[in-house]
Amino acid sequence: MKPALGVCYYPEHWHEEIWQDDAKRMTETGIAWVRIGEFAWSQLEAQEGCFTWDWLDKAVDILGKAGLKIIMGTPSATPPKWVLEKYPDMLAVDAQGKMRKFGSRRHYCFSHSGYRAEAARMAQDMAKRYGKNPHVQAWQIDNEYGCHDTTLSYSDAVKQEFRIFLSQKYQSADALNKAWGNVFWSMEYETIDSIDLPNQTVTEANPAHWLDFRLFLSKQVVRFNQAQVNAIRPYTDKPLTHNYMGRYTAFDHFAVGDDLDIASWDSYPLGFLEQMLDDETEAHKNNFYRQGDPDFQAFHHDLYRSIGHGRMWVMEQQPGPVNWAPYNPIPLDGMVALWTMEAFAHGAEMVSYFRWRQAPFAQEQMHTGLLRVNGDNARGQIEAKQVADALENLPDIEQITADVAIIFDYQSQWAWQIQPQGKSFDYFRLIFEHYRALRQLGLNVDILPSNVTDFGDRKLVFIPALMAWNDNLKQAIKKFSGIVVAGPRTASKTAAKTNYMQISPTAPDFADCQTLRVASLRDGITIKLAKGGAIIRWFEELQGDKGFEFTDNTEMIASRDGNHIYIGAWLNQTAYQRIFTALCDESNITTKPLPDGLRIRTVKDKQFMVNYSAQDIIFDGVTIPKADYLWR
Ligand code: GAL
Repeated sequence: MKPALGVCYYPEHWHEEIWQDDAKRMTETGIAWVRIGEFAWSQLEAQEGCFTWDWLDKAVDILGKAGLKIIMGTPSATPPKWVLEKYPDMLAVDAQGKMRKFGSRRHYCFSHSGYRAEAARMAQDMAKRYGKNPHVQAWQIDNEYGCHDTTLSYSDAVKQEFRIFLSQKYQSADALNKAWGNVFWSMEYETIDSIDLPNQTVTEANPAHWLDFRLFLSKQVVRFNQAQVNAIRPYTDKPLTHNYMGRYTAFDHFAVGDDLDIASWDSYPLGFLEQMLDDETEAHKNNFYRQGDPDFQAFHHDLYRSIGHGRMWVMEQQPGPVNWAPYNPIPLDGMVALWTMEAFAHGAEMVSYFRWRQAPFAQEQMHTGLLRVNGDNARGQIEAKQVADALENLPDIEQITADVAIIFDYQSQWAWQIQPQGKSFDYFRLIFEHYRALRQLGLNVDILPSNVTDFGDRKLVFIPALMAWNDNLKQAIKKFSGIVVAGPRTASKTAAKTNYMQISPTAPDFADCQTLRVASLRDGITIKLAKGGAIIRWFEELQGDKGFEFTDNTEMIASRDGNHIYIGAWLNQTAYQRIFTALCDESNITTKPLPDGLRIRTVKDKQFMVNYSAQDIIFDGVTIPKADYLWR
């Protein structure tokens, strides 16, 4: 497949006279796709039912005739003021019970049925008008679900719908009381209608109450998205997508993705390093502050490729400094091109930059575009053009199945957020550290959902901290002849039909071992392993006679029964790399430990080598200049 470039454009921000020239300059840059419309509601429907389509018709026409394919965004992330006047209670409410306000964006609660219908109605009006327009080749629904902390809401609408959800799930208060264990602290309810939301309780609310709440909120995002999918589908046969975010886990993206055709996501490598990787050391951040973390983008490409059932786009990519992180450095020259090509190497069919022109007004004035405010080309444009030129000479990029996979499960993220048992136990982090260790060994890694029924041709599968088994996954494990590595905490909740949060302390029943006690470790405390590396953050006292790894004090920390391994600890990179290398050797997977900042991705017939570091690297007989990549 030949990947393509795109750009995000806001015709409503600029005089009509420049649209034509902008379109021409986009195609000259080598751009094939342009996303428009996703925040333009007030310009399209200034008052209820009063539509002004002519400007958008014209923009579509100009862009399309210039040869650009349009991605039409539905504007539900930015309802205009009249919508709020129509539904004064449509705003999300924060955990302290305060209603959020109009004046920025994403000012809605996913559970407000009136707004859900209004958003779907607007999407349908747009689809009726542009669904068959030959220039409109894809649709983006809404923009970054959950951004600005908007999945969790404690509004009246949420309360009403949560009770309906609970009634359907449990049928009676009695059943719910049993499933949640409400006998504890006299938390029993007489009716489901008297159940409140789990915020503002005196101390922690029942974890089962929380988990059901998180599950419900996630389903509300799915439902909100479905309303627009159903509104648009009858009018177009073009693919539908949504642009997800980095390290955002408040709803089940696999479930949303099941209703869409392509998963796209928004990649801001420097913003992420500053804002989304608080759990990195200062030294690491300083090393990569103008390049971004060498694994973070790749991880999300791999995750979203899976969420999109193989089809993945980057809908927004940082073109230079952004405006929203605590610090916003300038990327090293070459990084914009590098991030783009890396996305292609991981299967992106399209990478679109955010945004075409820097805006001279409102919230994002400090955010660069491919063009400067005065219309001159900015550095981002130059690098986008370089990528476009490089693509011309690049043979098709074809993805291959990785030998190694990691299971990623949103529900487990919520479970351990609700009951971390140790300040630094973060599910995403644990998954990411597995991913990093494997990538540092030069491997491709696939990310799979927890309800996968088959591991395919893979040879080694990791299931860290999966809250509970499910039948599909059990089946996949049963069929699999490769090695499965589970734990820590995997299957430490029972998979009772009614509720997952009823537990034994932990009983993995995997690899023939039992967990007797668990300990969370403060930052800075490490427990050395006999063969090298150490335990950090989490340690389980294991019982069994199939020991596989031990501390230097001879305590068993992992057990192995045939091809099933349970690791009852969180390990540092040295330990993970040592153990994973041995398991790869055993599975006939070739590893190649890479220097800091260098990563390799293998696709069919080629390898992509990328240097995230600020120094040139010589590896395997080739020099990869700093902030650069090569194909071989
Ligand atoms: C994204 C968002 C865009 C824009 C961008 C700035 O999160 O989708 O609309 O705000 O950030 O970096």
